[in-house]
Amino acid sequence: MKYAVVTGTSKGLGAAIARLFMQASIHVIGLARHENQDLANEDLPGQYHHVTVDLADLQQTEQKLQEVMDDLKTKPLQAVYLVQNAAVVTPIEQVGKQTSGELTRHVHVNLLSPMIITNLWLQGWRESDISCVIAHVTSGAANRSVYGWSAYGSSKAGLDRYTQTVALEQEQLGTGKKVLLFDPSIMDTDMQGEIRSSDESQFSDVQQFKDYKQHNQLRSTEKVARVLVDRLLKPEDLVNGQYLSVKELL
Ligand SMILES: NC(=O)c1ccc[n+]([C@@H]2O[C@H](COP(=O)([O-])OP(=O)(O)OC[C@H]3O[C@@H](n4cnc5c(N)ncnc54)[C@H](OP(=O)(O)O)[C@@H]3O)[C@@H](O)[C@H]2O)c1
Repeated sequence: MKYAVVTGTSKGLGAAIARLFMQASIHVIGLARHENQDLANEDLPGQYHHVTVDLADLQQTEQKLQEVMDDLKTKPLQAVYLVQNAAVVTPIEQVGKQTSGELTRHVHVNLLSPMIITNLWLQGWRESDISCVIAHVTSGAANRSVYGWSAYGSSKAGLDRYTQTVALEQEQLGTGKKVLLFDPSIMDTDMQGEIRSSDESQFSDVQQFKDYKQHNQLRSTEKVARVLVDRLLKPEDLVNGQYLSVKELL
């Protein structure tokens, strides 16, 4: 049996990744606050199981992930995948006008919960030699400063450094476990809708993002997810710390 734990499967890229895993006979455990009835109703070789969790709540995140790990350990597994895709872009606002609560939630969802989950994951599979691949979804915003995206750029930059450090450790330890980054570029999702709905005083590039939508420049999540899942299905070809960029691969 092969299993994938995917965060943020209620919609957007996470839902598309889950569906492709299921098509490839990989069972998916999806983590998000909202369920995804379409995935639950799919008749595919891999099944979908939903776990409701608010990744901004770190105690809840740890508890739910531990329950998932305990359940997985009862199964005859050949391979496990972890795809940490859930993220928020908000607050979209200049520094000096954000609230501490918004910032706390942002960093919990985008950076701390992925760190907690990856830590528990590697702890759980340390003594196991089944195939184990982790992918963290990042953004080009990690590598450039965007007016209004201080939180998003910082949390994604933190995720990049964290991921590459984990990859370096796993490589030096010779565990065979692979950890990589996936940059999906711009996609037609609710996150893009949130970006477009911001005011120019909060996000100075807002017109450019409205133009992306108007000129059909946003990729579909299905197309983007396929780039990632196709590669994850061949773990032997993956390199620890690899940065998979849709812009370069499509
Ligand atoms: N869209 C783009 O153009 C773009 C570009 C570059 C990078 N990315 C990255 O791609 C990934 C997917 O983005 P997307 O566009 O698909 O986003 P999206 O449509 O907004 O979906 C985000 C997903 O994350 C989950 N999520 C958010 N907050 C959560 C919380 N507190 N607890 C649990 N789950 C939570 C949501 O589930 P619930 O609301 O049900 O909890 C949802 O399933 C993100 O990492 C994003 O940064 C996106």
